[in-house]
Amino acid sequence: EKITISVIKADIGGWPGHSRVHPQLVETAEEVLAKAREEGTIIDFYVATCGDDLQLIMTHKKGVDSSEIHGLAWRTFEEATKVAKELGLYGAGQDLLKDAFSGNVRGMGPGVAEMEITLRKSEPIVTFHMDKTEPGAFNLPIFRMFADPFNTAGLVIDPNMHMGFRFEVWDIKEHTRVILSTPEELYDLLALIGAKSRYVIKRVFPKEGHKISKDEPVAVVSTEKLYEIAGEYVGKDDPVAIVRAQSGLPALGEVLEPFAFPHLVSGWMRGSHNGPVMPVPMHQANPTRFDGPPRVVALGWQISPEGKLVGPVDLFDDPAFDGARQKAVEIAEYMRRHGPFEPHRLPMEDMEYTTLPGVLEKLKDRFEPVE
Ligand code: 13P
Ligand code: 13P
Ligand code: MG
Ligand code: MG
Ligand code: MG
Repeated sequence: EKITISVIKADIGGWPGHSRVHPQLVETAEEVLAKAREEGTIIDFYVATCGDDLQLIMTHKKGVDSSEIHGLAWRTFEEATKVAKELGLYGAGQDLLKDAFSGNVRGMGPGVAEMEITLRKSEPIVTFHMDKTEPGAFNLPIFRMFADPFNTAGLVIDPNMHMGFRFEVWDIKEHTRVILSTPEELYDLLALIGAKSRYVIKRVFPKEGHKISKDEPVAVVSTEKLYEIAGEYVGKDDPVAIVRAQSGLPALGEVLEPFAFPHLVSGWMRGSHNGPVMPVPMHQANPTRFDGPPRVVALGWQISPEGKLVGPVDLFDDPAFDGARQKAVEIAEYMRRHGPFEPHRLPMEDMEYTTLPGVLEKLKDRFEPVE
């Protein structure tokens, strides 16, 4: 029997500014979801936060893209938005871009990562939650987990994963996708996903012959592009991901290892700057320096045979990641010294808002030809 894990998140108001989620929003979400659990709509849930993003982690038997589950998430965000408005939180309801729910939250503002899976005898999973960045921020770490033998020893020494994996990559500008196999197509994959603002890993699948069916995802990332949805700046679409671990998949430590390197991602201040992503426990996921630097939280779970969420374990709450945090602080300092200059500030086409057209308009009569 299959269980679905759904992580649906939204920024429905920051406290203060874009820094964190107010605890009353968490309480409100817990009340709504507890009722849904009592009524049997969902099996289990946990409400987490990362920066100013409210994260609903749910298990149920309704499959992915279920209007019942998406409707529940939407209602939860609406209820919490009422509280955000009462408290006067910043950007209350920011990510609820449509007035009425129409069957699916995709394209309506919230970010979604979901997978329907056949539970293994033991099912360890990690949910990742990022703030102040975009879905392409997962390209490098997901690649490392499932395709880089210098990260994942199992690719070399575990007969159950030596065959490699398949990556589903979305072109988020053209709205198309392609599936690439590693290790055979490693360089083609990298040619795409290195351009992380355009080609985004959506899912990873096993290959034929793996213990897990080749049609069941082993990793999934949210990919909503809010600025395309709304046609204007509404905040970078702070992403989430779900990754399964162990027995023929990367071990828990191989799933976390990529984050020992605080790689550069787009987002940070005003969604318009490059900076390092800092791995932190949930209580440190409150970006304040220049509204950042970007954060990633990793929550560890075992799924019980009935589909209960046994956890969370706050996985970056480990001094072994202190070095990565310190490095992120150093890189943040270095990047900040560039002020409004690229590559700290994003190139023009990737900024979430810009004064450039206005400046050009004002100066248009003063530009003269150069011989
Ligand atoms: P243990 O010996 O602690 O079970 O660890 C096994 C393992 O494979 C760790 O990656
Ligand atoms: P969020 O995307 O987390 O709301 O942040 C937006 C922003 O402008 C930060 O400076
Ligand atoms: Mg915000
Ligand atoms: Mg946010
Ligand atoms: Mg954002």
